[in-house]
Amino acid sequence: MAADIAGCRYAVATSSGTTGLHTALMTCGVGRDDLVIIPSFTFIATANAVSHCGATPWLLDIETESWTLSARQLKNELNDKTEIRNGRLIHKESGRKVATIMPVYTLGNIPDMDMIMAIAKEYSLPVIADAAAALGAKYNGKKVGEPADCTVFSFNGNKTVTSGGGGAIVTDNEEIAKKAKHISTTARISPEYDFDMVGYNYRMTNIQAAVGCAQLERVEEFVNKKRHVRETYNRLLSDLDGIEFFPEPKNTSSSCWFSGIVIKDGGLEKLRSMCKELKEKGIEARTFWKPIHLQEPYKHAIYADTLEVTDNIWDKILTLPCSTGITDDEIETVADTLRELLR
Ligand SMILES: Cc1ncc(COP(=O)(O)O)c(C=O)c1O
Repeated sequence: MAADIAGCRYAVATSSGTTGLHTALMTCGVGRDDLVIIPSFTFIATANAVSHCGATPWLLDIETESWTLSARQLKNELNDKTEIRNGRLIHKESGRKVATIMPVYTLGNIPDMDMIMAIAKEYSLPVIADAAAALGAKYNGKKVGEPADCTVFSFNGNKTVTSGGGGAIVTDNEEIAKKAKHISTTARISPEYDFDMVGYNYRMTNIQAAVGCAQLERVEEFVNKKRHVRETYNRLLSDLDGIEFFPEPKNTSSSCWFSGIVIKDGGLEKLRSMCKELKEKGIEARTFWKPIHLQEPYKHAIYADTLEVTDNIWDKILTLPCSTGITDDEIETVADTLRELLR
């Protein structure tokens, strides 16, 4: 069912989005000391999945219009900083092999995948999309699983479609699908307890799968509701100065995972105090992803020349209540309270 919704031939269910990403990276052969290109503006799980392979993230910037991986910077970085040695694509300064590109479909926005796939082809790199929250999104009318070689979703409790916890890898590539299934189910090759490699118990449980299947039947309804919530906030708050709205790139019909606003002169202190004031009024607002290059475990990752867009945006984002169960009246209350606060 997940494969069909994503526009792919195969799906492999996993215990989480993170284990799905780890599995997908392993199926593409990512190993110790390799580099995997990811945007710095993402949830830590994207980088952690890379680390779980013994590899290191190469952190790139995002585009302002989508908050997703900058295809232009990807091209420049690969052009300036890599060379072929012994038939392998090597990052010149670190001497490490570049193994995969992993764009993130931030909030359900899809980056310029036409350009990213063309660059990947030029450098013979596989592309694994971290589409954790992007089920139901579309790219140039195509389904979300179509652009990349392999696409990974999360069904964690905070996602639009949830099985309590879980994930899925979707792909059109039979070999990747078979490998993913094998690696994530202990690499067993016979009923007599024979195994051909060190595998993982990354299965989704049957109970989670049952919940997930029932939820998947409602994906369109849930995504429509998410869009409605986003549009309602945007309409109600459109006259406020000093704020901007979450971007939706031209080519994407976003799954609008979260709704919220960008406080132009934000900064963490300001956002924290807004969250506190909103909480006192019974409204839960939150800050959003702190980029990977500012996280302790990734101080020694490889960085692009500039991460300017990421640095400029991450501490200005305030997410607002946006569950699929929220009512229009509740959205109006949040908007009114925010209006008071920003005045
Ligand atoms: C971009 C991104 N990648 C990966 C994950 C990890 O998914 P999970 O929590 O199912 O492991 C998340 C979860 O929020 C995410 O937002």
